[in-house]
Amino acid sequence: MIKALITGGCGFIGTNLIRYVLSTYSDWRVVNLDLLTYAGNIENTQGLEEAYPGRYTFVRGDIADAGLIDDLFDRQRFDIVLNLAAESHVDRSIEDPSVFLRTNVLGTQILLDAALKYKVERLVQISTDEVYGSLGKHGQFTEDMNLAPNSPYSASKASADLLIRAYVKTYGLDAVITRCSNNYGPYQFPEKLIPLMVLNAYEDKELPVYGDGKNIRDWIYVGDHCRGIIMVAQSGVGGEIYNMGGDTQMENIEIVRMILDYIHKPHSLIKFVKDRPGHDFRYAMDYSKIETELGWCPAVKFEEGIEATIKWYLENKRWWEAVRTGEYMNYYERMYGGR
Ligand code: NAD
Ligand code: TYD
Repeated sequence: MIKALITGGCGFIGTNLIRYVLSTYSDWRVVNLDLLTYAGNIENTQGLEEAYPGRYTFVRGDIADAGLIDDLFDRQRFDIVLNLAAESHVDRSIEDPSVFLRTNVLGTQILLDAALKYKVERLVQISTDEVYGSLGKHGQFTEDMNLAPNSPYSASKASADLLIRAYVKTYGLDAVITRCSNNYGPYQFPEKLIPLMVLNAYEDKELPVYGDGKNIRDWIYVGDHCRGIIMVAQSGVGGEIYNMGGDTQMENIEIVRMILDYIHKPHSLIKFVKDRPGHDFRYAMDYSKIETELGWCPAVKFEEGIEATIKWYLENKRWWEAVRTGEYMNYYERMYGGR
């Protein structure tokens, strides 16, 4: 049996990853450690204890709580740690960077200390393409590029990546970093572009597009990312970094129009609003390293993935109504009210 700690398992990617691992690898046991912030929903993992007896446990807790982490590692003796716990939304990081530093930087360092002390075989840090900064019209990010983060979110993720490098070099920790482009799919919190636009369109609300809508992201279906994370965990080389991307560079406005067309809503719902400060223009991933070394490449075409995702939101109204709490409504008003 492989005993794995997955942090942030009640969030978007964590939920998809835990479901993938439990259904694909019968020799993995998973402990999900999640603080259940506004972005974490315990309902996402409901039923897993019963569906996979003895293979899934949930623990509520903070990765930045050193006492809790030490106690958990001491009791569980994990073979592997997959760190997904994070504050993950750029706009929120612009509003208040402090919690991003606490969770994404300090929290990671506390996990690294525990991984060393309890001789974890491998730690995988789930990082992001945003650590590389912004691209102009041409080129792609490669693993050897300098880090040039532009938002408090990406700066916190880049800081964690640098700490990992230091723990590998200084203490000989076996850690690997994955950097992936923008994910989409089921269970994504409706503050991120795709689910926000789907729900606003469904409810005939305005679709707030930042600036001229021409910023470009490289979209990947979440299932492809999850598969890559496990390949890196199993076969990646210690100390290395692996980029993942979806081969789908699209302007935000193209995606928004596609969503409206799919739900049969008018383009007049689009509202161009004040741009995000420091808004990165374009992300695009060169994933040839993981493709050559581990045989990974994205499998889900954007047209199929976006259709499945829109359908999922339309069929899971109860899920998104429940996650849109009072806190979210206040955030939405603060963020878009005067824009
Ligand atoms: P998310 O915001 O949906 O989920 C984050 C989860 O972490 C939530 O369940 C939350 O409750 C939990 N959490 C937050 N602070 C915590 C703490 N202090 N202790 C324990 N748990 C805590 O994020 P996501 O989109 O699922 O992203 C997961 C990871 O993948 C993040 O590290 C993010 O940087 C990275 N990533 C995301 C994307 C993307 O497009 N979403 C792309 C590349 C990398
Ligand atoms: P987002 O989903 O927040 O991901 P990230 O900023 O991490 O790439 O945003 C994706 C793109 O969509 C980004 O260019 C900002 C833009 N965007 C909007 O135009 N309107 C919105 O309301 C949001 C949330 C994002």
